[in-house]
Amino acid sequence: MYRSEEAWRSVDEYFIAALAPEDEALVEARGSAGAAGLPDHEVAANQGKLLSILCQMIGARRVLEIGTLAGYSTIWLGRAVEAEGHVTTLEVDPAAASLARDNIARAGLAGRVEVVEGRAVDSLRRLVAQGVEPYDVVFIDADKGDNPTYLDLALRLVRVGGVIVADNVVRNGDVTDASSDDERVVGTRALIEAMSSNDRLTATALQTVGRKGWDGFAIALVVS
Ligand code: SAH
Ligand code: DHB
Ligand code: MG
Repeated sequence: MYRSEEAWRSVDEYFIAALAPEDEALVEARGSAGAAGLPDHEVAANQGKLLSILCQMIGARRVLEIGTLAGYSTIWLGRAVEAEGHVTTLEVDPAAASLARDNIARAGLAGRVEVVEGRAVDSLRRLVAQGVEPYDVVFIDADKGDNPTYLDLALRLVRVGGVIVADNVVRNGDVTDASSDDERVVGTRALIEAMSSNDRLTATALQTVGRKGWDGFAIALVVS
């Protein structure tokens, strides 16, 4: 039964306090985007912890993130890959990239995280052209209209057995609107369709409620 956004928030706060507490570096990173006049679009702490556990479950050492903002999710990912691991994170906004570098350095992760400034499509194509070592996990969380392109490029950069997660696939239920002309909805529906029809992937998606309202994420395992 539907209760209220306030109840969702309390449950998130309970789970976060018990299972995904934030240290000072995460608290600062979370507050920093809003303080700098950027949107507070970072994942909730319990979702950051989920990303981190997913990495640990498959022993991820190389993670690719599309959409850095202030580096909040990046810190969860950077911690999960441990000292020998590496996170490449792509951000188009120079102010966000610079803020992220500060937050990542404050978290002690500068040595294992590279913030690549520029349009993600360009950066991804460059990584493909460079023939970089495959990634274990890709987290897609940038402009939603380009989600299908990001999935295509991610598939050229991820190893078999790797995992691709895409954030914000529900958007208050808008995702079910097949006639939407909102490019974020169109892009997300195309992403879900592509995950469904691609033989290399087995995928699912979950709705979430909580601190971030009603949203959700899709997760795909690269099977071949
Ligand atoms: N992953 C972050 C939140 C990212 S918000 C976290 O959970 O903490 C989405 C980010 O994607 C924003 O910072 C935005 O500037 C960036 N972005 C939007 N369009 C982009 C593009 N074309 N290329 C790279 N980054 C982009
Ligand atoms: C939006 C983007 C995000 O990555 C997010 O977590 C929440 C909202 C947005 O574009 O509105
Ligand atoms: Mg997001």
